[in-house]
Amino acid sequence: MTSPVRLALLGCGTVGAEVVRLLHEQSADLAARVGAPLEIAGIAVRRIGRDRGDLPVDPALFTTDALGLIKRDDVDVVVEVVGGIEPARGWLVEALRAGKSVVTANKALLAEDGGALHDAAAEGGGDLYYEASVAGAIPLLRPLRESLHGDRITRVTGIVNGTTNFILSAMHATGAGFAEALEEATELGYAEADPTADVEGFDAAAKAAILASLAFHTRVAAADVHREGITEVTAADVASAKAMGCTIKLLCIAARGADGQGREAVSVRVHPAMIPVTHPLASVGDAFNAVFVEAEAAGQLMFYGRGAGGAPTASAVLGDVVAVARNRLAGVRAASESAYADLPVRPMGEALTRYHISLDVADRPGVLEAVAGVFARHDVSIATVRQGPAAGAAGAAGDAVLVIVTHVAPDAALAATVQQLRGLDIVRSVASVLRVEGGL
Ligand code: NDP
Ligand code: HSE
Repeated sequence: MTSPVRLALLGCGTVGAEVVRLLHEQSADLAARVGAPLEIAGIAVRRIGRDRGDLPVDPALFTTDALGLIKRDDVDVVVEVVGGIEPARGWLVEALRAGKSVVTANKALLAEDGGALHDAAAEGGGDLYYEASVAGAIPLLRPLRESLHGDRITRVTGIVNGTTNFILSAMHATGAGFAEALEEATELGYAEADPTADVEGFDAAAKAAILASLAFHTRVAAADVHREGITEVTAADVASAKAMGCTIKLLCIAARGADGQGREAVSVRVHPAMIPVTHPLASVGDAFNAVFVEAEAAGQLMFYGRGAGGAPTASAVLGDVVAVARNRLAGVRAASESAYADLPVRPMGEALTRYHISLDVADRPGVLEAVAGVFARHDVSIATVRQGPAAGAAGAAGDAVLVIVTHVAPDAALAATVQQLRGLDIVRSVASVLRVEGGL
């Protein structure tokens, strides 16, 4: 057998520990698939003395000197499952420039400064693989960066955050409010002690940037992504969606289209949206992820599975380790970053979307005309209008609820319409505004 491919494992937490376990349990199969044994040269952690249970690994392999480990001549592949921007960026740039291959699950770093990693990989001649960074176990990035390279992707729509999907699914199923559903997610171990990155959409925005970069051959960073979280979604919004035959999901949407001057551009956004219960993404419940890809020749493709968790994420990491190890043995590297299209990312105001607007209004002659006039002034076409009696204690006698769904329009025009509606004296309140995706 050929001499081993030696791995430096950076991080041994939720994901890293499962990587160690799988490397141990599957060692014979992995060696047969790679053509050489995979060996752990060392494991960098923050706390050497931490209790790691019955992890099947020699305790002497642990070190707190990640950089020293990376620089060792007997390390071929660096597997980074620590997370965060620094020191991970410095470690990985160092490793790649030195010609080592890197496998990472670090979506935050890839979305913040993926360019620095790709440039370092090109300089050093090693591979940079990051399948686990988006949607955990789901094989998604490899199809985007290899299988679909003969096609033209037009749109990627995904549920890429399990925590928020659990919360929104619970709100839909039980009628609970956001706070109550978050509490349940925390109790069950889905939400972290500080859930900000998930519920405010930062995690999904990082993943959206990675997906858009691969789909459109363009460097897209997290800062380019329009981001809204789910903290403002109310039980009333969910009930309103249900009444329309819809459910609310936190979507990441990356789409190709023309900008204001007719030039090709992309828009990348993360926000809650109503989708019909018949949409393939509507049935994605619990903490699962799913991504819907539309391409000109392939048509519609759906990827579904576990987006998080130690073992599912380690599965994706190990798949990458096998790929880069094989490449090293063959003396080749995978195709480098494809960013040739370099398309501009257009602002959210230019993104084409639809709104569902629920208004508490005075129920008297001329109200509908006044409301419709605001939409017309902003060149926003109304698709449906539904009127009912004012609901609950908030509704006063002589009030009504108007539920309006628009046709597609630039987001800026829709937002300006809502702003002007708020100023009408016949509008008591704008009870809810939600974007609508996937047809109604
Ligand atoms: P954990 O917090 O569970 O583990 C982090 C590991 O990194 C720990 O072993 C910790 O050491 C080590 N570490 C932290 N700081 C340093 C440092 N300065 N030097 C050396 N080691 C350090 O994280 P996860 O395993 O959950 O996540 C790892 C990566 O995988 C992140 O990028 C995350 O975004 C990504 N990811 C995670 C998923 C999941 O479900 N958990 C899903 C998809 C991606 P110690 O053990 O001593 O504390
Ligand atoms: N916090 C993330 C989620 C983990 O809830 O999906 C996977 O990236």
